[in-house]
Amino acid sequence: MHALDIRPLTPTIGAVVHDLDLGRLDEATFEALHEAWMRHLVLFFRDQHLTPEQHLAFGRRLGPLHIHPAAPFAHGNPALMVIHTDAGSHRNNGDNWHTDVSADEEPPLGTILHLHTLPSGGGDTLFANMYAAFETLSPRMQDFLCTLTARHESNYDGHYGDHPAQREYPSAVHPVVRTHPVTGRNALFVNPAFTTRIVELSQGESDALLRHLYAHASHPRFQCRFSWTANAVALWDDRCTWHLAIWDYWPQTRSGLRVTVQGDRPYFDAASRREHEAGCEDRVAPTSTARPG
Ligand code: SIN
Repeated sequence: MHALDIRPLTPTIGAVVHDLDLGRLDEATFEALHEAWMRHLVLFFRDQHLTPEQHLAFGRRLGPLHIHPAAPFAHGNPALMVIHTDAGSHRNNGDNWHTDVSADEEPPLGTILHLHTLPSGGGDTLFANMYAAFETLSPRMQDFLCTLTARHESNYDGHYGDHPAQREYPSAVHPVVRTHPVTGRNALFVNPAFTTRIVELSQGESDALLRHLYAHASHPRFQCRFSWTANAVALWDDRCTWHLAIWDYWPQTRSGLRVTVQGDRPYFDAASRREHEAGCEDRVAPTSTARPG
């Protein structure tokens, strides 16, 4: 067992794990790392010289691998998604707040991104804690959201140039609040990239509520920001986070590989709400009235 050196980026989300080789993890270290992941939601590792096979093998330790509906892949393996933006790109993958492929009936549980080529500055990724976003809403709003479901839809037309789609673009209805199958905590599970409509509301009501939730959930106090270095890895939990890749480095290149792990069908467990309610209050500051500083 390798003692983990874990340094939180913020008290709310994100931690850097130092001096660990992801390509050589014994079972006890893997278990400890998994616990740390559940606590911090996103883990970062620098200087990882993972081969594609080691990257895939690390993903498989978390679960079966997910195949993206449309993105290009490397080494002839659809589970090795290419993340690449350069001077010729017309868009940057993931530059809107999202949870990976939430339009799948069984969306990913987590994602492992390994970047090998970075611009001289910029190209950071933001992550946001969706447990905290849910827990800081008023109890009445929480109660209401727990009764709702939302449609998530994908349309990747034109996103990946002429790369042919791997499968039909998915669409699914998920609970607006999902219970995490490992931690039992509840997280807001709607996002600006994929959620098109709250099913039980009129379109106008749905738009207004989603606008409110997105403004609330994208507050910086729920976020951390990771500045990449060559060969760094990020491991994020798609069941309780959003992320956004910042494209501020054109015309430079940012490039790497992503392995995504298949999750299960999102559900909301009302009993988990009562169990976790009391413990949540001391983890995040109460909502304050924003005033210009
Ligand atoms: C993604 O959404 O998978 C891309 C994240 C990034 O490039 O930082």
